[in-house]
Amino acid sequence: LRVLVLAGGLSYERDVSLRSGRRVLDALRSAGVEAELRDADSALLPTLAGDPPDAVVIALHGATGEDGSLRGVLDLCGVPYVGCDARSSRLAWDKPSAKAVLREAGIPTPEWVALPHDRFSELGAVAVLDRIVDRLGVPLMVKPAQGGSGLGAAVVRDAAALPAAMVGCFAYDSTALVERYVPGMDVGVSVVDLGDGPRALPAVEIVPRDGVYDYAARYTAGLTTWHAPARLPAEVADRVAATAVAAHEALGLRDLSRVDLIVGEDGSAHVLEVTVSPGMTETSLLPLAVKAAGLDLGDLLGTLVARTAA
Ligand code: DAL
Repeated sequence: LRVLVLAGGLSYERDVSLRSGRRVLDALRSAGVEAELRDADSALLPTLAGDPPDAVVIALHGATGEDGSLRGVLDLCGVPYVGCDARSSRLAWDKPSAKAVLREAGIPTPEWVALPHDRFSELGAVAVLDRIVDRLGVPLMVKPAQGGSGLGAAVVRDAAALPAAMVGCFAYDSTALVERYVPGMDVGVSVVDLGDGPRALPAVEIVPRDGVYDYAARYTAGLTTWHAPARLPAEVADRVAATAVAAHEALGLRDLSRVDLIVGEDGSAHVLEVTVSPGMTETSLLPLAVKAAGLDLGDLLGTLVARTAA
């Protein structure tokens, strides 16, 4: 098999993606799968068209890798890839759209407002933000409608901090997602489907040292403690797992995804967002969940590659 692992690209998460790509490459090789790491730049296109690999593993994070565009190109070139198809990736990538689908499917997700920058300037920032605070209260979570790794995201505990959070968010995207903040335990649940239907791996509990799981807390050793499996009673862990699988299915996802949730103090599970290209770095959640499940990352990815290329 000739397997291409795509990483890098030009998104804000390029560095994270390069780390994920190397991890995926090492894991596949350790499982006996010959794979090559490639940056996702324009030089890739002649390769895909003229000398296509048997399968692609997408370790790209952010736009292009997660928004369905690269997956559409792979479809066009007839190159099979591990993971979600173009349409469902596009859907999951746009958080307000994904949340609307989840709500329609009866899956709890915190109440939200999607705010395009144009509307913000047309109506006057103060009036718009006042209306949001009236509707959702505080604390709030502000994040780019599209994007990952906590870039441009902020927890707003006081209405006075909202304008600065919006400015930080608009630096990354022209639309902001403002969500009601649900207090509780932050968990990431990886969902995998090896051909027998999607199943949840053990939830990973996230405890950032400074209380906020931002970019630094995600990728700097020592700034976050993870518990895998999460310290939840069995009945709550089951509910969290079922909610994650339901979200994966509602969005029409394939092979693997990661569903990030808050487990409320009453044990309720609320889906925050879903990623079709989960981080694979040394401090990422999916590799921790794979280990907690007693599985091997290389074997898991090798199985997905073999199914994809078949
Ligand atoms: N966007 C990062 C890579 C993640 O969700 O893991």
